[in-house]
Amino acid sequence: MNKEIKISPSILSANFSKLGKEIIKLDKSNCEYIHIDVMDGHFVPNITIGPEVVKSIRGLTKKKFDVHLMIDPVNKYIDDFIEAGADIITIHHEISEDPLLCLKKIKKKKILAGISVKPSTPSNVLKKYIDYVDLILIMTVEPGFGGQKFLNNQIKKIEEVKKMVGNKKIDIEVDGGINMQSAKIVKKAGANILVSGSAIFSQKNYNKIINELKLV
Ligand code: DX5
Ligand code: ZN
Repeated sequence: MNKEIKISPSILSANFSKLGKEIIKLDKSNCEYIHIDVMDGHFVPNITIGPEVVKSIRGLTKKKFDVHLMIDPVNKYIDDFIEAGADIITIHHEISEDPLLCLKKIKKKKILAGISVKPSTPSNVLKKYIDYVDLILIMTVEPGFGGQKFLNNQIKKIEEVKKMVGNKKIDIEVDGGINMQSAKIVKKAGANILVSGSAIFSQKNYNKIINELKLV
């Protein structure tokens, strides 16, 4: 198995009426993370879940919670998500607050910090975060909804980020439209953590597709 690629299933595509069972299914699978999409209806045009829900599923698995905050403001909610059990918190460059201040706050709490960019944001904005992050998340769809088509025009950005990161210990994560076909492309471009929602949750056997995605 290719140890380089790690999988972060996005529970946005899970069946929320039985979320606990879905988490337990992921717990038994070979995924490394569980991706939790937090949306506020302001930074993105959709509303999803908050810290209470994160807290309620925390006891069901030891998998790392990869919390993707698509909210603005974000600073005042960071502690709530850490207390709820986040292992990684990723915020967006495009927020109205100072992202660096938020990243420093996350790092102070000894969890991992990530910075994400929307498809229209160029890679060069990421330079100023390089010394403060453990992860860079490149959106390969417009954030807001699961089940969208992978944006091929983001491939170049993944390659640029890979170059920028060099041999620093920073993960390159991609999120949006990841399936067997796009997984191959993003891996080649330099991504090492793949978020995938609909491609995993549309299958009966989550572990099978997770293993396949790792092996692309
Ligand atoms: C989009 C979210 C993604 C989304 C991915 O704003 O950040 O995590 O759930 O879902 P798929 O894999 O279906 O594109
Ligand atoms: Zn996400």
